[in-house]
Amino acid sequence: SDPLRIALAGLGTVGTGVIRLIETNREMIAARAGRPIEIVAVSAREKGKERGVDLSPYAWVDDMQAMAARADVDIVVELVGGSDGPALTLARSALDAGKGLVTANKAMVAHHGLELAELAAIKKSPFAFEAAVAGGIPVVKGLREGTAANALNRIYGILNGTCNYVLSEMERTGADFDEMLQAAQEKGYAEADPAFDIEGVDAAHKLAILAAIGFGTRIDFDAVQTEGITQVRASDIAQADALGYVVRLVGIATLEDSGEGPRLLQRVRPCLVPFRHPLAAVTGPTNAVVAEGDFSGRLLFQGAGAGDKPTASAVVADLIEIARGQSGAPFSVPVTALQSCAAADPGDRIGR
Ligand code: HSE
Repeated sequence: SDPLRIALAGLGTVGTGVIRLIETNREMIAARAGRPIEIVAVSAREKGKERGVDLSPYAWVDDMQAMAARADVDIVVELVGGSDGPALTLARSALDAGKGLVTANKAMVAHHGLELAELAAIKKSPFAFEAAVAGGIPVVKGLREGTAANALNRIYGILNGTCNYVLSEMERTGADFDEMLQAAQEKGYAEADPAFDIEGVDAAHKLAILAAIGFGTRIDFDAVQTEGITQVRASDIAQADALGYVVRLVGIATLEDSGEGPRLLQRVRPCLVPFRHPLAAVTGPTNAVVAEGDFSGRLLFQGAGAGDKPTASAVVADLIEIARGQSGAPFSVPVTALQSCAAADPGDRIGR
C-alpha cells in the first residue's frame, strides 16, 4: 500500500535518531503500520555538517519552509525546536497546506499547542507530539487514552532528564552542580540552551502539556510557577539525605478547590522526596510521571526522558499511529477553560 511520506525538519540529536530508527526497524515498522514509512525530504540549518547518518537517500531541501508545500509529503516532522520562529512558521504552514504534523517541540506545544490543534482539526489533519513530553515514555498516549475514563486528582513527576541526572549524580558523587551540568551536556541530555533545563522551564513546558491532557483544560504555561535547580548545593543534598529524603525537580499539577469550583495549580520546583517514594528511585536522565485516577489508582510511567533513541522512539510511534489512520484528537476534548491559581502554601514536600 501507499507509503506514509515524511519530510524531516531538523537533523540534530532527535532528527538523526529518527533516521536511524526508521532505517534500522524499517520492515517491522511497515508491518505494524500497515504500510511503509518513508522519509522523502530532509532539511536543517546547516547542510554540510557531519551527522553520522547517510542523507543521500533523501532530497535535501535548502529552505526548510518549502517542505510544507511539497506535493510528495504527507507529514512534516518538526524537530527544529524553539517555541516560535522557524519551527512555528513551519508547523502552521504544514497544517495550512493540509499536511500532518509530528513534533518533539515541547516549547512550541506549550505555547501554541491549542492553536495548532484547532488548525489540525479544521484541516482534519493529524497532529501528534508524544516526543514532546518525557522522551520515550508514551505518557501522552497513556494519559489521553489510558486514563480517559478517569477523573484525575493529580499528575506529577520528574520531567527533565538533565536536572534529574545532575541532582542524582550530585547525590551519588558528592560533586558540585557545575561539574554535573557539564557532564549532562556532554551526554546530549541538555537543551541547546541549558538554562531551559536547569531553570525548570523545560519541565514547565511538559507539565503544562500533561496538565492540559490530563485535566482536559487549556494549556496554561504562563501559570506554571517555576523554580529550577540552580540554587541546589551539594550540602542541601547531604542535609536532605540525613533527614531521609532525596532532592528531585518535580512538576506537580493538581486541582485545588477554590470555593468557586476547581482551579488548576501547576508548579515545578526542587522537592524533598522521601526515600520510600517511587520517585526517589528515579536516577539519571530518567523521567517518571505519576497520575492518580479515581478508578485506575496510582499509575507510574517511567523511562528515558531524553536522548536520541528514546525520543526518536516516540516520534516514530506517532508516525505509526498516523500511518494506521488511528491518530485521534491531540488533547482530551472538550477543552474547558479551567482557571489557574497560585499556590496557597509554599510546601515543597510531596506526600506519600
Ligand atoms: N533537555 C531535556 C531533558 C530533553 O533533559 O529532559 C528532553 O526534553
